[in-house]
Amino acid sequence: MSNDIIHRTAEKIAVLRDHFVQHERFDPLEARFAMLIAKRLSDLTTGRFTEAHGLALSGASGTGKSAAMAHLLDRARQRLVTTQHPDSTIISLRVPSPATLKFLGQTLLRALGYQISSERQAWYIWDLVRHHLRERKVLFVHLDEAQDLASRGTRHELSAVASMLKTLMTDPDWPVGIILSGTPELEEILNHDPQLARRMETLHFSSLSPVANGEDVLDLVENYCQRAGLSATSDIQKLMHGERLIHAAANQFGLVIEVTLAAIEQAYLDKAKSLGKQHFAQAYQLRTACEDAFNPFIIPDFYRIEPRQVFSRGTR
Ligand SMILES: Nc1ncnc2c1ncn2[C@@H]1O[C@H](COP(=O)(O)OP(=O)(O)OP(=O)(O)O)[C@@H](O)[C@H]1O
Ligand SMILES: [Mg+2]
Repeated sequence: MSNDIIHRTAEKIAVLRDHFVQHERFDPLEARFAMLIAKRLSDLTTGRFTEAHGLALSGASGTGKSAAMAHLLDRARQRLVTTQHPDSTIISLRVPSPATLKFLGQTLLRALGYQISSERQAWYIWDLVRHHLRERKVLFVHLDEAQDLASRGTRHELSAVASMLKTLMTDPDWPVGIILSGTPELEEILNHDPQLARRMETLHFSSLSPVANGEDVLDLVENYCQRAGLSATSDIQKLMHGERLIHAAANQFGLVIEVTLAAIEQAYLDKAKSLGKQHFAQAYQLRTACEDAFNPFIIPDFYRIEPRQVFSRGTR
């Protein structure tokens, strides 16, 4: 295969990857976040002090939480510039591991553009965090992979972290809204601390169902084909293909997109004019290194495949 094809394929796939699919679960998320921002901005304008509120988004791995949050925050930042408070900001970071109070504080400081020696004590670090949140006019802090705040290694730190998040939201000088996104274990954090939960709105991205969402996924694939400049063979327009794809993607919306893009990549490398079932089968094989007998795009009884499992071989 020539380098030229590899190069062009990589570029075209990168463009497709940049596209955000506006799914129906995104709209309520955006509407609720817009409301939180509007309340916070109106308090700022009138000089009123009320506690900031936050949002928690949970969903299985690969459902599309990080992608949705990144898109949401991009759009919110663009809108902030047009308000009466154009210098206000939103910051986003991934919860560090281990998620101790001190390490989280340091990571947050770094996200605020401030480095600090790790010898400092947690209370000092968090004082600085609060100072810089106010200075930088940070309205919201988004913590992705928030389930790590409740991971086994840092359980004993959970109460300290939860109470620090509450402190940020209720700071009388500069309340900051907290947005958490992560796998369903993140719900444990809120259940662990009712005072934190009371200040958060919750949203869940549920999994797809092969029966209920088969047609939607076929539309999604069709749409990606159009963007990719490929036609779709008749075998990938049948409802059964939608069901196979959802199952192969462990019922997760984001993974459906990942598998579809991987299939399009195979079609480009094949110099094919249309996207077909064999490209999905190749893509799945590359992702999982499984044998054909474990490939849901090849075998008829595909429901017996465990789609999160990789390296499936006959001996298993
Ligand atoms: N709406 C979307 N439009 C385009 N691509 C998407 C969309 N949602 C998810 N994806 C893609 O699907 C993949 C998985 O999504 P993402 O990383 O957001 O999942 P996640 O829920 O954060 O998973 P994890 O819990 O493992 O972090 C990514 O490659 C992402 O780019
Ligand atoms: Mg993620």
